[in-house]
Amino acid sequence: MLLQNAVYSVGVVDADIRIFHGYEVPIGTTYNSFLLVDDEVTLIDCVKAPFSEEFLGNIREVIGDRPVSRIVCNHVEPDHSGSFPSVIAAYPEVRVYGTANCERELRAYYPDVEFQFEIVRAGDSLASSAHTLDFIPMPMVHWPDSMSTYLREHKILFSNDALGQHIGTGEMFDSELSEELLLALAGNYYANIVLPFGLQVKKLLESISTLDIETVCPSHGVILREGIGSMIAKYAAWADNETDESRALIVYDTMWGTTAKLATIIAEEYRAKGLDVTMLSLSDVHYSYASAEMLEARYIAVGSPTLNNGMLPSVAAFLTYIKGLKPKNRVGKAFGSYGWSGESVKDVHSVLEAMGFEMEEPLSTKWNV
Ligand code: FEO
Repeated sequence: MLLQNAVYSVGVVDADIRIFHGYEVPIGTTYNSFLLVDDEVTLIDCVKAPFSEEFLGNIREVIGDRPVSRIVCNHVEPDHSGSFPSVIAAYPEVRVYGTANCERELRAYYPDVEFQFEIVRAGDSLASSAHTLDFIPMPMVHWPDSMSTYLREHKILFSNDALGQHIGTGEMFDSELSEELLLALAGNYYANIVLPFGLQVKKLLESISTLDIETVCPSHGVILREGIGSMIAKYAAWADNETDESRALIVYDTMWGTTAKLATIIAEEYRAKGLDVTMLSLSDVHYSYASAEMLEARYIAVGSPTLNNGMLPSVAAFLTYIKGLKPKNRVGKAFGSYGWSGESVKDVHSVLEAMGFEMEEPLSTKWNV
């Protein structure tokens, strides 16, 4: 599909995926890829391996028998490089451009694939007859290899994973979504992928702050035109771990209902303080959904009954996951019921405290309330 003069969208939609390397994507996703066509044919990013034939078909629809002459590889994670071997097989003379880490990772992932690679660094550009691409490495947003690429003539930032969203329901541009939905999808995406890398996100935002950007083409989700400013403002806030003082999240699981009753008691206490409360049972929602709800909440209460001298596995999974996401500036509270030994509340409290949460007094009860 023609996006702008000489720039085509050739990516694919993965409408059926529901779990994306461990976290939930309830409405699927896309693997976006773009072609820049002038005297060179430049492919910006590839797609996930199972879509290789569809992807090559999309490319051929645009360029027919012309070969792809250059690939810009912004990121090696297999959702963007899985079809790389198929593209190399179809266009063996292609030259690949990416960071030094990109080359290292591509050669490690695809040791049997031979390809020509040129390392690019911050400030490097790649010209063709009518266009210039500027490379903006963004290490650890969210892999060491990660990079954005800016197309000067069309003021397009190909931002790869940054500024993306998981939506695979056919929309192409942000104008097809409400701003509320767009930012909610972006928040879910940020919480699950980018949250641990706030410092690196801030560096990226600084790097692109001097660019005149009219279009953002992320590697997942819709293309941004109208919502660039609000998305970047949200990224700046999320990168700073800004939280909403008026929002509380209660995440729990329960065996016989007592921990659920405690969750309700805590919710009432929070509401009495004027907080807006979200309660989520890990029996009802995926831990990644609960983690995304944490993104802007200042208060996080986590509850588990004691089972076999510890916490429920569902709560342990949630805590393991959010520990890796490294949220900051939160107030935590542990709660739960027990029958005899009662370790779960202490264990939940310890995990949240070790994450740097400012801890409130825990709440526990024996048998029932
Ligand atoms: Fe969309 Fe980090 O891959």
